[in-house]
Amino acid sequence: MEYKILKTKEELEQMYKLRKEVFVDEQKIPLEFEKDEKDDLLDTVHVGVFLNEKLVATARIMKFNDDVVYFGRACVSKKCRSLGVGKFLFLNMEKTVIENKKSNEKRTIKFSAQYHALKFYQMLGYSVDDGKIFLEFSIKHIKMSKIV
Ligand SMILES: CC(C)(COP(=O)(O)OP(=O)(O)OC[C@H]1O[C@@H](n2cnc3c(N)ncnc32)[C@H](O)[C@@H]1OP(=O)(O)O)[C@@H](O)C(=O)NCCC(=O)NCCS
Repeated sequence: MEYKILKTKEELEQMYKLRKEVFVDEQKIPLEFEKDEKDDLLDTVHVGVFLNEKLVATARIMKFNDDVVYFGRACVSKKCRSLGVGKFLFLNMEKTVIENKKSNEKRTIKFSAQYHALKFYQMLGYSVDDGKIFLEFSIKHIKMSKIV
């Protein structure tokens, strides 16, 4: 497995294709909401995991240079779930955040987790924030965070 920051046009095309498969086709989130203005901001970093040169997981890190950074659009292709790819993706995203800060600084990572994956995120050391469950496109979400 190879983790990379996605930069080229081809890598970003593969990323949107994978996100469409998971969020639009599988989870029924409308396509017009899947890609948003945050994707194009200068302080948004897109990352991915490649297996045999194919993109099998992706996510975005937003507000990359701030004290509070946000993760989002994390997904693993359906065929590659439960193989440790998601864990590998998140551990590497945390490494990317840590490498971008001074050693004496702390960063808080925040995101809205899909509720079904709560245990996955807790296993990775994320804590539930206020515990309120809210709906986005009929999918239950809960806010989580971790300090690194
Ligand atoms: C949630 C998701 C990213 C997890 O990725 P994954 O590659 O399947 O997870 P991993 O194989 O790395 O799992 C690591 C561990 O978490 C557990 N786990 C994974 N998904 C889980 C879930 N939904 N509920 C409970 N435990 C889960 C695994 O059992 C595994 O435990 P182990 O290490 O003890 O064996 C993936 O299922 C996914 O992309 N789902 C669809 C899109 C989605 O819901 N994204 C989340 C947006 S917030």
